[in-house]
Amino acid sequence: MQIITDPAEMQAIAENFRLQRQRIGVVMTMGALHDGHLSLVRLAQKKAGIVIMTIFVNPTQFGPGEDFERYPRPFEQDAALARSAGVDYLFAPAPEQMYPEGYSTSIDPGPMANRFEGSFRPGHFSGVATVVIKLLNITRPHLAVFGEKDAQQLSVIRRVVRDLNIGTIIEGAPISRENDGLATSSRNIYLSADEREHATVLYHAIQHAQQETEKGRRDLGAIAGEAESIIDSVPGTKRDYLCFVDEDTFETAETAIPEKAYRFIMAVRVGSTRLIDNWRYVCGGGNDEC
Ligand code: PAF
Repeated sequence: MQIITDPAEMQAIAENFRLQRQRIGVVMTMGALHDGHLSLVRLAQKKAGIVIMTIFVNPTQFGPGEDFERYPRPFEQDAALARSAGVDYLFAPAPEQMYPEGYSTSIDPGPMANRFEGSFRPGHFSGVATVVIKLLNITRPHLAVFGEKDAQQLSVIRRVVRDLNIGTIIEGAPISRENDGLATSSRNIYLSADEREHATVLYHAIQHAQQETEKGRRDLGAIAGEAESIIDSVPGTKRDYLCFVDEDTFETAETAIPEKAYRFIMAVRVGSTRLIDNWRYVCGGGNDEC
């Protein structure tokens, strides 16, 4: 595995692979790699001959008071994990290489970026969209794999890539979970032992929604209300949001329409750690009587 820090060098390497008709897949990360990231690598390897991983803790997607400074950066450990996972190139630029003096461009992904995560983290999705487009331009991939855990991020990226005619295939990879259902996340390390136990309530809320929709219920607003009570029954939790949304627009959905895809999304604070999780639901998608 080669480690590249210079955007121009990475771009030249990628361009060369394209000339050789090699298929490139990219997995973008902010480091602190865990099993979830490695499952994205495995998916990229199935679909592409050359896999590039990017590690960049992107300052423009963190708001004031968020964890940019304390975000974990175990680079040596990450590089070893990426190498043993069979990544071909690790692109890890410094902030000043991505945003040199005088840098002034940003992408506005439109209304979807202001809902839910976007309303709690103003400017977050503009920062994500901008860095993702920059990293796509630098790594020139045929496909890019993103985790479904960040469902709104995935929908925003799909929207921006479609709207700007980028031409890269965006693949969503299933959420990787611990044995008790907690979605794997670099932020799980912030949880104390008690909080770690309480955090499983997010998955219990998802299981409730799965069970109720499997019965053929379409009243998504009411199911979400019941799931809110499940979260609220656990001490030390505080909901930022929890509801079903239309997967394309991230507008709240109250009643399911056959064949449509929804996300059951939530952000919950457990102690001082903010966790997000979601479940994709297609009305009539095989496991319900919608
Ligand atoms: O999901 C992440 O880790 C980041 O938001 C991403 C896509 C790497 C952009 O910085």
